[in-house]
Amino acid sequence: MKKIGILTSGGDAPGMNAHIRAVVRAALAKGLEVVGIVGGYSGMIEGDFIKLGRKETANIIGRGGTILKTSRSKEFMMAGGRAAAAERIREAGIDGIIACGGNGTFKGAHAFWVEHHIPIVGTPGTIDNDLYGTHYTIGYDTAINTAAEAIDRIRDTADSHGRVFIVEVMGRHAGFIAMDVGIACGAEYVAIPETVTNLDILYQRILKQGKTRRTIIIVGEGDEYGGAAKIATKLKEEYEIEAKYTILGHIQRGGSPTVRDRVLASHLGVAAVDALINGKTDVMVGRQSHDIAYTPLEESWTRQKPIWSYLIDLAEILA
Ligand code: F6P
Repeated sequence: MKKIGILTSGGDAPGMNAHIRAVVRAALAKGLEVVGIVGGYSGMIEGDFIKLGRKETANIIGRGGTILKTSRSKEFMMAGGRAAAAERIREAGIDGIIACGGNGTFKGAHAFWVEHHIPIVGTPGTIDNDLYGTHYTIGYDTAINTAAEAIDRIRDTADSHGRVFIVEVMGRHAGFIAMDVGIACGAEYVAIPETVTNLDILYQRILKQGKTRRTIIIVGEGDEYGGAAKIATKLKEEYEIEAKYTILGHIQRGGSPTVRDRVLASHLGVAAVDALINGKTDVMVGRQSHDIAYTPLEESWTRQKPIWSYLIDLAEILA
């Protein structure tokens, strides 16, 4: 292992820059060269590579987004795209790759390894926190803090007007963001894909608020009811309740990473370089408690990461 490549892929996540910086510093310390693959797997297919050193990665630890840019490459989902990428990687003399992203990124990385035998490890970079094999993903902590700040603001106006508010948060098919911010913001109801949403109970919670009517409902975008707008419509049609709704959207993906995200991103960056040096491939380099954990890439998306049940209980008790 003399030269390694790093790319960021899928939805960007705060902390990806801190991760890139850590990979570069760790690799340089071990005498390796580092190549940045620009634009995720699309950049790999096009051979869009840049040399990364201390200078190129200085002053980025606190920046959101990713200096390497990202994409959701359709071409890389096909064997032809992956073959083209393998050719570019071999031409550039890259011996191993670190792919930071989520489910889609790891599916691509696994297929790439199986077909081309170029060592590749994944690092969990997604605000969704939905990857099996790591307690937290890079970007999750920042996203929940951003969402919580926004919901606190909504609560102020909801409280002043005595309104019912439904706030939709990201997370794709997972309810981690919704559950954590629901508890942190004192929501009256949290609707997540992992549990059955019951509008009768939700209605009772609104009534329980009495005269003030101020109610905060958090819904994960993957919930079976289909999001905040649909719940608002149902509340109106079936219970004659007027509810305002807000979709927080991509605001959750931006901004300066929190300390926790910076530290996690740095830890996983150093560990990913070590993993490649030690001959690991086709694994996700994650963290369980305080320890680095390696999970076969395929497991990271085929096994469902469960929402910790104590959180579900907490949200119920405290509602
Ligand atoms: O996976 C991260 C994520 O932000 C999800 O929470 C969301 O469903 C999705 O990406 C949105 O993707 P895009 O920005 O491509 O629309």
